[in-house]
Amino acid sequence: MSKNIVWHHSSISKQDRRLKNNHHSCILWFTGLSAAGKSTIANEISKALFQLNIQQYVLDGDNIRHGLNKDLGFSDYDRTENIRRIGEVAKLFVDNGQIVLTAFISPFIADRNLVRTLVESDEFIEIYVECSVETCENRDPKGLYKKAKNGEIKNFTGISSPYEAPLNPELTLNTDKLSIQECVETVLQFLKSKNYIGLGDVR
Ligand code: ADX
Repeated sequence: MSKNIVWHHSSISKQDRRLKNNHHSCILWFTGLSAAGKSTIANEISKALFQLNIQQYVLDGDNIRHGLNKDLGFSDYDRTENIRRIGEVAKLFVDNGQIVLTAFISPFIADRNLVRTLVESDEFIEIYVECSVETCENRDPKGLYKKAKNGEIKNFTGISSPYEAPLNPELTLNTDKLSIQECVETVLQFLKSKNYIGLGDVR
């Protein structure tokens, strides 16, 4: 870290922003294989929250890799750096009183746990979007599994690079079995039951 830098405190607190928004703020961290359904589910939840007047934003792997993280590839080191940066950005959204939905493969337990430590214990909700490699391969919306199997893409998660499933996620959505709408409902129900949204007063 550079020397001679001093943290400047904001004059508006996270709590002020939550009170104004009338909902809690947190990270909904979606993890799972490519084509498991992370981005689709995150975007559908975002839409539902938007309609409920809840401040939300989706950070998506493919999109972030076009800009902020366009210098990163898919080595283990680069994936770790990808997730570290997203964790820091997501933390800013939480500080801004918003619900931030992140859709990244984030294949390593240690990287996801690092993000968990960046925020308060109730601010990180790990959602395992579980789906068999076979189903993901059948879906293959971007044709990447085919390329990975042909050896055209190296280090492809689930084929030639590991995926470490969460050991204790707050939620698991199995998209082999559940519809997108059922997944969305499960997450919304979780947020309501834990008082993240639908609040009379904010914690
Ligand atoms: S992560 O592993 O670093 O979390 P991230 O979610 O940002 O990955 O990006 C994954 C997306 O990049 C996939 O959905 C896919 O479209 C694309 N991609 C390109 N090459 C690879 C690869 N080798 N492994 C996994 N995904 C890849």
